[in-house]
Amino acid sequence: MSTIIVGTPVIAGVGELFTTHGLAKKAVVLFDEHTRKLYGDELLKTLSHQGFQLKELVVPAREASKSFSAAYRLYGSMIEDDIDRSWNLLAVGGGVVGDLGGFIAASYYRGIPVIQLPTTLLAMTDSSIGGKVAINHPLGKNLIGFFHMPELVLIDPSYLSTLPQREIYSGMSEVVKYGFIADESFLSFLDLHFKDITELQEPWLTEAVKKSANIKDDVVTNDFREQNGVRATLNFGHTFAHGLEKLAEYRHLRHGEAVTIGMVCALFLSHNLGYLDRVSLERGLSILKKFRFPKGVLKRRFLDIDSNLLLENMFSDKKKLDKKLRFVLLKMLGTAFLLEENVENKQVLKSIDDAHRFFSRKGAH
Ligand SMILES: NC(=O)c1ccc[n+]([C@@H]2O[C@H](COP(=O)([O-])OP(=O)(O)OC[C@H]3O[C@@H](n4cnc5c(N)ncnc54)[C@H](O)[C@@H]3O)[C@@H](O)[C@H]2O)c1
Ligand SMILES: [Zn+2]
Repeated sequence: MSTIIVGTPVIAGVGELFTTHGLAKKAVVLFDEHTRKLYGDELLKTLSHQGFQLKELVVPAREASKSFSAAYRLYGSMIEDDIDRSWNLLAVGGGVVGDLGGFIAASYYRGIPVIQLPTTLLAMTDSSIGGKVAINHPLGKNLIGFFHMPELVLIDPSYLSTLPQREIYSGMSEVVKYGFIADESFLSFLDLHFKDITELQEPWLTEAVKKSANIKDDVVTNDFREQNGVRATLNFGHTFAHGLEKLAEYRHLRHGEAVTIGMVCALFLSHNLGYLDRVSLERGLSILKKFRFPKGVLKRRFLDIDSNLLLENMFSDKKKLDKKLRFVLLKMLGTAFLLEENVENKQVLKSIDDAHRFFSRKGAH
């Protein structure tokens, strides 16, 4: 649905690209402190050489920047500098900058175009695509937001060279997720080239990024407002992951790490409920076995957690304990569906216990 360009250096022909997309060469460029420091000077220079009028904004590099107070401060700075509806917003960073930038673009002057320039693997393959933009509320993550499609998504995998390994694995989790939910042959490719990709070797890295971005874009095109269950399949592993993230206070576990663990649980659940055969289960697990966690993280944030406690925390709200949980399951590797029926708690608990055993056996602590 959006125009997604993948290349290195993607920014080289961006002026022309703006023009062909009917966008003025005026950009509010939003960074976080890290992306500003790493890539800001070079990027602003390139844009300025291409005739852009620029306004620079920087936020702290943390989840807390996805807040109303941060947005409010940035609106003020934009108003003071006479930024009007003829401008665009270019978000340069990970999902935090992309979500915040998208939120500001969706609301400023009743909406200006947003262009995403993702710099984390997670942002390149997931958060920059699909138009969901949001800030957090003290009562919950991503609760205040819009559907605001980016005009352009500019993906340059070479930005990943400075990304910490932990963030690479975190993004890789969503990449593998696309294989599980949508494309068995992509899953085999990821299995075969897992090391190449996580070590940022080309052409495998670009191929994995491109394919993931396309799958996300396809899914979103089929179900933009999450109405027919197709977009919901992107939440494979996420029902478990959200509980783990909550227990880790959204700080001690990266989202992708929680999703990796959540996918192990979801594979077991798919098998235990009779949807996924044993051979596929084992194949799926052997791919997930390749993920690495920082020392102590897996033990403290999953192995030491009682299954009942995790189950409790999978409900988004304590008051909703009687409501049913929604699970995305696999019928086969490459084919996911949103289960409509209620799942008995004992099945969920058993799958968490199976995952506990899997990770203990793996010997990763
Ligand atoms: N909108 C969506 O559809 C969607 C989907 C998934 C996640 N999200 C959101 O995305 C956010 C997480 O995004 P994230 O994982 O990209 O985290 P992030 O934006 O916090 O980035 C992770 C860290 O990497 C740094 N960084 C970014 N690019 C770098 C680079 N090239 N080199 C070195 N360091 C770099 C950042 O400064 C930060 O410290 C969450 O807020 C989540 O809610 C949104
Ligand atoms: Zn996710």
